Amino acid sequence: MNTTTTTNGSAKPARILTIDVRPDGVAIVTYDLPGEPVNTLNASFAEEFERVFGEALSDPLIKAAVLVSGKPDTFIAGADLEMLKTVTTASQGTELCRTGHRAILRLVDSPKPVVAAIHGACLGGGLEVALACHARVLSDDKKTVLALPEVQLGLLPGMNGLQRLAEKVGLQVAMDYGLSGKNMRAAKAKSLGVADDVVPQPILVEVAAELALKLAAQGRPFGVKAKKKSAFSAAELTRLALEANPIGRKLLFKKAREEVTKKSGGHYPAPYRILDVLAAFADGGLQASRDVEAQAFGELLMSSVSRRLVEIFFATTALKKDTGTDDASVKARKVEAIELLGAGLMGAGITYVSLSGGYSVRLKDRDDEALGRGVKYVADIVDGRVKKKQMTRLERDKLLSGLTTTTDTSGMKAADLVIEAVFEDLALKHKVLAEVEASARPGAIFASNTSSIPIGKIAAPAKHPENVVGMHYFSPVHKMPLLEVIRTKDTSPEVVATAVAVGKKQGKTVIVVNDGYGFYTSRVLGPLMNEASYLLLEGLAVETIDKAMQAWGWPVGPFTLLDEVGIDVAAHVGPIMVEALGERFVPPPTMVKLTQDQRKGRKNERGFYLYGDAAKKLGRGKHVDPSIYGVLGLPAPDPKASGRVSSEEIQMRCSLAFVNEAIHCYGEGILRSARDGDIGAIFGLGFPPFRGGPFRYVDTVGPAEILRRIEGYHERIGKRWAPAPALVELARAGKTFHGKG
Ligand SMILES: NC(=O)c1ccc[n+]([C@@H]2O[C@H](COP(=O)([O-])OP(=O)(O)OC[C@H]3O[C@@H](n4cnc5c(N)ncnc54)[C@H](O)[C@@H]3O)[C@@H](O)[C@H]2O)c1
Repeated sequence: MNTTTTTNGSAKPARILTIDVRPDGVAIVTYDLPGEPVNTLNASFAEEFERVFGEALSDPLIKAAVLVSGKPDTFIAGADLEMLKTVTTASQGTELCRTGHRAILRLVDSPKPVVAAIHGACLGGGLEVALACHARVLSDDKKTVLALPEVQLGLLPGMNGLQRLAEKVGLQVAMDYGLSGKNMRAAKAKSLGVADDVVPQPILVEVAAELALKLAAQGRPFGVKAKKKSAFSAAELTRLALEANPIGRKLLFKKAREEVTKKSGGHYPAPYRILDVLAAFADGGLQASRDVEAQAFGELLMSSVSRRLVEIFFATTALKKDTGTDDASVKARKVEAIELLGAGLMGAGITYVSLSGGYSVRLKDRDDEALGRGVKYVADIVDGRVKKKQMTRLERDKLLSGLTTTTDTSGMKAADLVIEAVFEDLALKHKVLAEVEASARPGAIFASNTSSIPIGKIAAPAKHPENVVGMHYFSPVHKMPLLEVIRTKDTSPEVVATAVAVGKKQGKTVIVVNDGYGFYTSRVLGPLMNEASYLLLEGLAVETIDKAMQAWGWPVGPFTLLDEVGIDVAAHVGPIMVEALGERFVPPPTMVKLTQDQRKGRKNERGFYLYGDAAKKLGRGKHVDPSIYGVLGLPAPDPKASGRVSSEEIQMRCSLAFVNEAIHCYGEGILRSARDGDIGAIFGLGFPPFRGGPFRYVDTVGPAEILRRIEGYHERIGKRWAPAPALVELARAGKTFHGKG
């Protein structure tokens, strides 16, 4: 058992909070969860708060206290999610929340002032603890971030954090942070009045101790007096108009609820409950809002949305630890220098994330013009970050100093990893592979960012196929969180582990899949897109299909997506998929007319929707190009079709086509696990997160029920709806993908 030495020197079982009293009377209270790499709030923290802030600080030798973390780079990272998992009823959740309220009140009512000295992640319950302290001093380190990310797990802050934040920053700013879960950096915290001081880490505790003694000398109520804001500033006048009177507040909350519905389609309950808590606080004060908070906390904890979001959190956490190979002894090779072939959309995006990951990058293209465009793309991203204060000018310059450009193979010898993002053309991929094998040093890895060509085909002429791997990024690379690493039967495990390690440093969530046509992510979208096209043939309008799919939770509808990805790209990949995978990938024959009509989508402003001036003329929002039906040889959409084909049928047919294909990938061993299939679909393709991914979705609805629906379509529509064998097997065995039941 861990032991620790207390102030009187005796050995006791390790506690979360330890107290060290300095000669000046400042008690340094250290939060250090025994045996864990980071601090979380677990089941026994409330008892500890009772002991320390209720009793120990009464010691007359103690004048004031500083709360610090015993972990190197986190203050407190939030509630212990494993503990939350053990709650089985809403009333238990509500009671847990009330226990938290009592613990936090101990801190607020502490006999001596407590100043939080914060370095590192101060998230969720951690920020709520910090906000309940009488003052906060933050380190100016980049690792110091504050946030209330509960909403991202379908929950809300359960220890009055929203209300305490609102007290400091006003309702609107508190709403912004509570509804988004976004990070607040130290400088921002200072300007908002959340931090009382921001100082370099080496003097953090000293400054906090000085402030604590000052607060003790001032006496109760402990706390730094907020600077009075000028009542005449525009921002303050708006705030007063909206927040300080009941009519303004009503309007504010009404607009906020509308905004939430617009953004999330009403699928996520937590944002509404967050607004309920803030509204109860604004109208009736902290005491009145506590009950609303505790009640909502219990309900949200039991909601299926929160369950799914927490599962996703655990899956991504597990992926962070996954080396990408099943053999724990396999180690990634050292990578310092990356060479990128192709400075187009993808090459430039990969360059940016590689520089951010600390790699030096040599960017190669055919001419200076292409390189110029690529470098500008990277510079625009970093300049945008400087503008948003996410990065300093110095950090920008340092990052860009890692980038060099070239039009020849000189310098390729320095690269540990070469990533190609040249045009999607097998002969060209072979050409660059041969160049790399001739010019790079032995053992350098060749990774392809192809979106559709099997890596085995690219590697076929390689002298060292063991060094060839797929690294499939998504556009825009700096925003999309997924990297799909593709291994062939020849790729060495060490090379796979290296690609995974690099992806993680680039900030990606990485899944590893086996090679095949379209791998996983480029494959599963095919049947969904096709089904949408078949629905068009049944007389439905483009916008009816797109809107129905959005209402199910997809970020955009299939035709919007096709315009974005490029109709030409889909038309190029389609026949290859049909040849390899058959019937399920055959689109309605009329779709070829789109490319004959030069429709490529947004890129040439000719697609399913109108772009440019034609769109502007019709006002805000998206407008379908009415000529699309004529091009496809279809009559104008039939208003009666919407009566025949319900939204639910559109949603089911398109989404289940996707799900069935995902199960094919699972059954064929393309995926290593259902977990990877869920994460790939959510992070790469926008499968609705609150449904947990295709495999969780099947588990939730029930494999037998999903099979029944697919078999129904099979009978009614035809062969393309044959159920994936793995689904049939699972349903017959009465099992689920994620292993229970
Ligand atoms: N665009 C996407 O959404 C997306 C997503 C995932 C993967 N991909 C894949 O990434 C690759 C690149 O796609 P993109 O959209 O960036 O294309 P792009 O047309 O924007 O860029 C390709 C670049 O490669 C350069 N190039 C051509 N031959 C070269 C050579 N021999 N040496 C060096 N550079 C050369 C071109 O000059 C051009 O700048 C393709 O294989 C594509 O399938 C694209």
